[in-house]
Amino acid sequence: MTEAILLVGGKGTRLRPLTVRTPKPMVPAAGVPFLTHQLARARAAGVEHVVLATSYLAEVFEPYFGDGSALGLRLEYVTEREPLGTGGAIRNVAERLTSGPDEPVLIFNGDILTGLDIAGLVRTHVDTGAEVTLHLTRVEDPRAFGLVPTAADGRVTAFLEKPQTPEEIVTDQINAGAYVFNRSVIEAIPVGRPVSVERETFPGLLASGAHLQGVVDSTYWLDLGTPQAFVRGSADLVLGRAPSPAVPGRAGEHLVLEGADVAVDAKLSGGTCVAARAVVAAGARVDGSLVLEGSVIEAGAMVRNSLIGAGARVGAHCVLDGAVIGDGAVVGPDNELRHGIRVWCGATLAPASVRFSSDQ
Ligand code: GTP
Repeated sequence: MTEAILLVGGKGTRLRPLTVRTPKPMVPAAGVPFLTHQLARARAAGVEHVVLATSYLAEVFEPYFGDGSALGLRLEYVTEREPLGTGGAIRNVAERLTSGPDEPVLIFNGDILTGLDIAGLVRTHVDTGAEVTLHLTRVEDPRAFGLVPTAADGRVTAFLEKPQTPEEIVTDQINAGAYVFNRSVIEAIPVGRPVSVERETFPGLLASGAHLQGVVDSTYWLDLGTPQAFVRGSADLVLGRAPSPAVPGRAGEHLVLEGADVAVDAKLSGGTCVAARAVVAAGARVDGSLVLEGSVIEAGAMVRNSLIGAGARVGAHCVLDGAVIGDGAVVGPDNELRHGIRVWCGATLAPASVRFSSDQ
């Protein structure tokens, strides 16, 4: 049975302030730490042994997931002394693998939500005899990504990091953050120093004539690296657009976890998730948003496409659209927060102190 490495040690800088106290894979999406969805999907594809490569805030993973038996998995944890980057992290956990040198090992970035056919990826890897197989997805604007053009038979022909000019954008296929490596390729990564698979290992393998195979799969795919993407991903899980066996409830317009307190005339829509001990007061409207544990949305507030951190408070009649409120922050009544604004953990905004519009 194929085993897997999950890369969960990144600092998640783009997701701050949510990742100030919580590593990105432990931020809840649709009611459970995001990592749960990935582990459950791996298990559903037949994976039984997963090694978590941890670094940033490493100590929080094991107390939550333990030995993995609740998910039907055997989980192991390896923590880097210094962050080793994606490739260094993969090499650093190699001794925990049980696969033989020519056997395939799955590797997943810890921040991707996808409906990828995992077993199919492994099958293609074995059938084509590749040393590394990469999941590729097509995006409209590939400028923020690493491009991976392929030949007609799917063989990777180049790795182009973050292209800028139209001439550099030779394909809309990007590295989607799921790979199959032959065990021997993992062993060949240099030990004890930071290595990036994207910038060093993959281009190096290609230059040395190795067979790298691309699998373009156009099912659901989202990189949850930014707050807006994270909120979108959680809403898609709740709505049932993104597949996961780990959503604690049925697909629908909203997911209200046990112990949450939602007023009868509050309106929840668009895949909103309200976590345990959170309160949504009378007349509040919450659309496409993620309301984390113990937070409070006061009466008449309107919250759209926003993320409300654990224990945070959104005052009465606030308007939030595309806002991120850090854990424990207090937004006084009558504020208007839009356009990706980030309120830091524990901050306090006085009543009616931020507005985007000129009306009162
Ligand atoms: P940003 O800081 O916002 O770019 O996020 P990130 O730190 O998660 O970086 P990125 O999205 O490029 O990382 C891709 C995946 O690799 C994520 O799942 C990270 O958790 C993981 N990762 C990145 N760097 C390291 C590292 O040094 N060690 C380990 N173990 N994992 C890492």
